Amino acid sequence: SSTIRCEATEASVYRETVETINLDWDNLGFGLVPTDYMYISKCSQDGIFTKGELLRYGPIELSPSSGVLNYGQGLFEGLKAYKKEDGSILLFRPHENALRMRMGAERMCMPSPAVEQFVNAVKLTVLANKRWVPPTGKGSLYIRPLLFGSGTVLGLAPAPEYTFLIFVSPVGNYFKEGLAPINLVVENEFHRAAPGGTGGVKTIGNYASVLKAQKRAKENGYSDVLYLDSIHKKYLEEVSSCNIFVVKNNIISTPEIKGTILPGITRKSIIDVARGQGYQVEERLVSVEELLDADEVFCTGTAVVVSPVGSITYLGRKVEYKNSGIGVVSQQVYSSLTSLQMGLTEDKMGWTMK
Ligand code: COI
Repeated sequence: SSTIRCEATEASVYRETVETINLDWDNLGFGLVPTDYMYISKCSQDGIFTKGELLRYGPIELSPSSGVLNYGQGLFEGLKAYKKEDGSILLFRPHENALRMRMGAERMCMPSPAVEQFVNAVKLTVLANKRWVPPTGKGSLYIRPLLFGSGTVLGLAPAPEYTFLIFVSPVGNYFKEGLAPINLVVENEFHRAAPGGTGGVKTIGNYASVLKAQKRAKENGYSDVLYLDSIHKKYLEEVSSCNIFVVKNNIISTPEIKGTILPGITRKSIIDVARGQGYQVEERLVSVEELLDADEVFCTGTAVVVSPVGSITYLGRKVEYKNSGIGVVSQQVYSSLTSLQMGLTEDKMGWTMK
């Protein structure tokens, strides 16, 4: 093993582990595989984040009265690194995650790392864990940046100190179905977000609040839950962990971003990719009736990538989409996006970063 000083920050000195990993790369799911290093930077009331350092991945110390534990003041991000055949590693649009974290931090009254610090920290963490990036075609290294109130509070107020932390894990397919179509149930009792709330922000609380509906759906044999808007109970919002698209007569529609829907980076990329392929893509209110009448339905997200939907159940009525596997449009956008992410096609958009 050798000692490496990373260029991205002088504060980080770590021992590179060169042992090969004994991991079943062919059967990666979306479960945590602990890796070697995590990145940590802190910020006190001055609003300036420390340079950051790489520490061995493991438990962190957190006060019982920290802002995140008491009042849920926290955000997370998700992005992926892919290994190319030549051994180089590609990130996909990391600046977008940095910007989204900054947007969310503003809503949650938190300071946030500068875009440059965020991107450098991501690079540093991936390089420190590079032996965990799956071989080409076997999956990706999922990168999970966190920003949370680590300072202590008792009365409800923003925490006096924040922690920016990044950890990583090799992953394969998100849904146990793999790339096979998933079966969704439209949730009629619970809602994910309301106008004026934080549904459009990647705050940790948004994800805890969907667990109950998701658990019930899984117990009933569904893959996940699709949420409707909380006012009319009629328009599509998103699935617990991803955005939704419907295709009818080769027109692709997806719910518009209006504060209650997470502005997915994969969502945004798919819209551009599909338009580039000549498809008409509409961002608008999409009703549940249109969903049931669609030719194809698919979900998008960093973890999910593009996941075809095989059936939707709404108020006890199950609609199965004609395609037994992935639909034509879903397949096209999936292939274009993933070949870009894996560096198999020319990146005219400049979305990937080596
Ligand atoms: C992602 O797709 O990266 C997410 O953050 C969703 C998460 C629930 C896995």
